[in-house]
Amino acid sequence: MSPTPVILDMDPGHDDAIAMLVALGSPALEVVGITTVAGNQTLARTTRNACRVLTVAGARGLEVAAGADRPLVRDQVLAADIHGESGLDGPILPDPRVAVAEEPAVLHMARLLRAARAPVTLIPTGPLTNVALLLRLFPELAGRIREIVWMGGSTREGNVTPAAEFNAFADPEAAHVVFTAGVALRMVGLNLTHQAVATPDVVERIAALPGPVPRLVVDLLEFFTASYRRVFAMPAPPVHDACAVAAVIDPGLVTSVPAHVAVELGGRHTYGATVVDRGGARPANCQVAVELDRSGFWDLVTAALARL
Ligand code: BDR
Ligand code: CA
Repeated sequence: MSPTPVILDMDPGHDDAIAMLVALGSPALEVVGITTVAGNQTLARTTRNACRVLTVAGARGLEVAAGADRPLVRDQVLAADIHGESGLDGPILPDPRVAVAEEPAVLHMARLLRAARAPVTLIPTGPLTNVALLLRLFPELAGRIREIVWMGGSTREGNVTPAAEFNAFADPEAAHVVFTAGVALRMVGLNLTHQAVATPDVVERIAALPGPVPRLVVDLLEFFTASYRRVFAMPAPPVHDACAVAAVIDPGLVTSVPAHVAVELGGRHTYGATVVDRGGARPANCQVAVELDRSGFWDLVTAALARL
């Protein structure tokens, strides 16, 4: 079977970096583009981070296209408390030897969608600003998108506020545009990603792999673990964004249910919440990920990292 063409739209970010490496190491995917968005850190930092991680991976023929430097409507929020001032604190990273594309992310995505041999899967693992702009500017390209598989939202509590998950909270208006666009959509939210916790046995497994890429992942997880202990009092961190990539590589790893999801845009205490209606009162606009095959997930992650 030919590999699924994907565009990664990200805000690296420790778990974004791991997601990128898993995608690059998977023969089931063809990464046709990488775009960045402001989120965990400023756009300049997330873009530099994407280029540095690609440099470690030795990826050829890919450039990084930088996208939106702020949310559509709301004031900007960043996540330096989790990812540090650089957005990728912890590992020692090389200077980037990967170019930043001249065209902005949205035009880059549009060009790649038009040129692709088959409809492309978008995997956004940050705020949905770029994807919302793409859908609004080029509605005719919706048919070139096979599916959008987003890490964001939650069926339960949030992680920035009691109600909202970070990627949803950082640009709720953009999320609203995407959830109302009528495109095929899967939401891989916190309720799913908290099943993918990088416990010490997982880190040991990755550390046993040779080469600079597994080393980088171990260093990323060390910093990420410290952040999750300090901020959330969790002993080990969920590798959120890698779950969205894994769900595309092997859909059998992630059980999803159809549901209507609305993004709260008005609530004083609930701004950015993804309100999931599983009762069927409103027609489904989304597949909501609910259950992860944990051991299958870590097998997939370690096998992908071992290939790089
Ligand atoms: C999401 O927020 C970011 O900090 C992570 O990179 C992930 O995409 C988890 O809420
Ligand atoms: Ca992210």
